[in-house]
Amino acid sequence: MCGIVGCILKENKDVAPILFNCISKLEYRGYDSVGMATFNGEINVKKAEGDIETVDSALNFRNMKGYFGIAHTRWASTGKPTDENAHPHLDETGTVAVVHNGTLENYSYIKEELIKEGHEFKSTTDTEVIPNLIKKYMDNGLDLENAVRKATEKLKGSYAIVVFAKDEPDKLVATRMNSPLIVSYGKEGYFVASDTPAVLEYARNVVRPKEGEIAILTKKGIEIHDANGKKVPWRSEYIDWTPEMAQKEGYDHFMIKEIIEQSTAVRNTLGQKANIKKVIEEIGDVKRICFVACGTSYHASISGKYLIESLAGIPIDVIIASEAKYTAKTWDEDTLVVFISQSGETYDSRMALKQARKTSKTLAIVNVAGSAMSEEAEFVIQTQAGPEIGVAATKTYVAQLTAIYLFAGLLAGDDDLINQLYKVPTYIDEVTSQREYIKELSSRYDFADDAFYLGRGFSYPIALEGALKLKEITYIHAEGYAAGELKHGPLALIDEKVPVFVIIPPGEDYDKTMTNLEEVKARDAIILSVGAEGDEKIAKNSRMVFEINPAVKDIIAPLVYIVPLQLISYYVTLDKGYNPDKPRNLAKVITV
Ligand code: M6R
Repeated sequence: MCGIVGCILKENKDVAPILFNCISKLEYRGYDSVGMATFNGEINVKKAEGDIETVDSALNFRNMKGYFGIAHTRWASTGKPTDENAHPHLDETGTVAVVHNGTLENYSYIKEELIKEGHEFKSTTDTEVIPNLIKKYMDNGLDLENAVRKATEKLKGSYAIVVFAKDEPDKLVATRMNSPLIVSYGKEGYFVASDTPAVLEYARNVVRPKEGEIAILTKKGIEIHDANGKKVPWRSEYIDWTPEMAQKEGYDHFMIKEIIEQSTAVRNTLGQKANIKKVIEEIGDVKRICFVACGTSYHASISGKYLIESLAGIPIDVIIASEAKYTAKTWDEDTLVVFISQSGETYDSRMALKQARKTSKTLAIVNVAGSAMSEEAEFVIQTQAGPEIGVAATKTYVAQLTAIYLFAGLLAGDDDLINQLYKVPTYIDEVTSQREYIKELSSRYDFADDAFYLGRGFSYPIALEGALKLKEITYIHAEGYAAGELKHGPLALIDEKVPVFVIIPPGEDYDKTMTNLEEVKARDAIILSVGAEGDEKIAKNSRMVFEINPAVKDIIAPLVYIVPLQLISYYVTLDKGYNPDKPRNLAKVITV
């Protein structure tokens, strides 16, 4: 998703190197174009399609002049990734500059209106209507703040914008609706950005403007105004994520660093036990729980279903957030709706959360403190994975699972399960210590066009997540299946060219999964099993095996068995020559 940054320095020195550094920290969100605008009497704009490094070597962002400016990484949603569509966008007179994250649902009507009034447009983006509206209102006599307010009143959809204008210089004006935006301050100056990693190096005191509020940044400080223009007091929180946590620290990619950090993510999230207990007490009795999430967080939710249903006997639904509106009709005051999201900003989940708040108790399990969902849900559990930069979720996933396991264990009063969780970090470290071996195993898979992942019971969501990891970064088509479903269709696709990953931990589903393994073996599939150390039956029936040591049982498997699958995806991606941190077409935070 697009990343936005704005900065105004306290002193009159050039802001461009700082802005450039900040926008580079948002690369992880996914983007296809980059641009910057600064002001030194005139608005200077440099922007183009391409990655930051390439565009910078052609345009040299860092020599732009002026002590304040805005920057943007664009992830194309309305209009193709082209130089013209890259942000910042100016109004037709070139005097109002805007960066925008989000999508405007009604931009075509506004654009038509503006065209009828004689305005001209250069791009095919939705964003370009914003500077033109602002300029129109400024020409009608409004100051910049009120022109921004009036312009945003017309917008429908999602936006976080940062604006400056030649006719009212020396300030940045920012506002948001359904898109994330933080304001922060440090020694050098005042910042606004779509996410904290952008500014951590310079400013760790973060203010989170509410939707519809307007932040005004000058070299003297920050003001936040409400929808009526009234000054509102703001409170900042200190972000204890260090800038180093969002660096590669010697690893080749964020993804491998984050896979290795999973033991720490679990350990730190286990530190939330007392908070989770308190949250459960405050929630009180519920008759039904409904998990709502997307992607990897959806897979973590399915583990939650298996766990809570088997331990606590509470009926659980798991809904993909973008499909939630139908189930939402059945939510009532006895339903707890649980939203799982690493970013806490996912648009579809947020819309479902808005809906759920009208009828039910809501709980958000998020990794980013102060994120929109953590502000909007009634109850919050914060996972402790630290910043995750790789687009493929890894450590945030095991942290989500840890929080869900604690939640389920505490809900059911299952001390045995909770005690087992404290050993998980060691199990994970044992797997990651074998990454050279996994790399070797992975080198045999880059040929594949399709792959299947099979698991039953607690291992079914592992199969789904293993397949997602493979497809999103290697671009190999992969499907996760409940092992018992195979014979109801997909078995037709299995032959000697198809890799099948079988997740088969010890436990009550073992024998049945073994039957499924034998079914694919009979079709000559290339089987790689993940099973317990020393399991000879698995070894005999599989082409390759990755052994989990010690032999954790099925109920704990989701937290451990996923790790070799993440590593396989990572190494296959490297073999194919792709960058695992930035898969094509994907973004880290999906705010549209
Ligand atoms: O921030 P969220 O957890 O709400 O994000 C949900 C999905 O977009 C996310 O898990 C996505 O599927 C990841 N790329 C998976 O690796």
